[in-house]
Amino acid sequence: MLAQASPWYVHALQRTTATPAEPLSVPARMEWTTRPGSGPGAEILAPDLRRKRLLELGCGPGHNAAHLATRYGAHVTGVDLVGLQVRRARSHYGRLNNLTFVAGHALHYLQASDERFDAIYSVFGAIGLVAPELLLPAITQHLKPGCTLAFSVPHPQRGGRRPSTDDRPGRDYVTLPDRTRLPIARWEFDAERWEKHLGRAGLWLASAQEFHDARHGLWPTTLLITARKL
Ligand SMILES: C[S@@+](CC[C@H](N)C(=O)[O-])C[C@H]1O[C@@H](n2cnc3c(N)ncnc32)[C@H](O)[C@@H]1O
Repeated sequence: MLAQASPWYVHALQRTTATPAEPLSVPARMEWTTRPGSGPGAEILAPDLRRKRLLELGCGPGHNAAHLATRYGAHVTGVDLVGLQVRRARSHYGRLNNLTFVAGHALHYLQASDERFDAIYSVFGAIGLVAPELLLPAITQHLKPGCTLAFSVPHPQRGGRRPSTDDRPGRDYVTLPDRTRLPIARWEFDAERWEKHLGRAGLWLASAQEFHDARHGLWPTTLLITARKL
């Protein structure tokens, strides 16, 4: 039965079994890359995050959302496809102010909401896992003018791969806590192809940075994109 369940559901189920659902202390920094402690922090979202409205797409256990709500007093909504992840995020950080976790598909959440955000972000979350031609315009509609979309994705050249040569998704895998791998579809764009899709959605590419992680060899592991609503 589980072999046919959503890979993200199985991932959350195994994590929930392995890690206790307990209150956690709030992380001291925001992590965008595969190597904790490297890369930029929350400053790439906006110069001043106090009381700003932020949306995370694919928040998982909610570590970054908790950091932003606590450290900056931002009002953060974290959306995740899997109810078990949302439950886990609430068990870790549900006690904090200014923080809301919602279960739902990123695209459906955006389509159902009329809220406008000061920044929207995703850290190895829904961006890259949902068709960009649908998700990016929906994000634009929910960003205030001049505001930032920031997202990190697995680098399209990680482990010697090649970025997509067209706009279709490729085959990737979710590695579960027990080390088995389940297939997923992922849009594996390089910065240039992201720029094209962002532009079509009314977003301007501000930066594309790549990060390495010595544990994963010489290839870059993370691509971090920031874009602004025109
Ligand atoms: C690799 S985890 C990253 C979680 C978190 N951002 C972090 O850095 O710890 C990817 C998350 O995206 C969620 N996800 C996958 N597809 C999604 C979608 N269409 N809408 C919302 N969340 C999604 C998964 O359930 C999973 O929790």
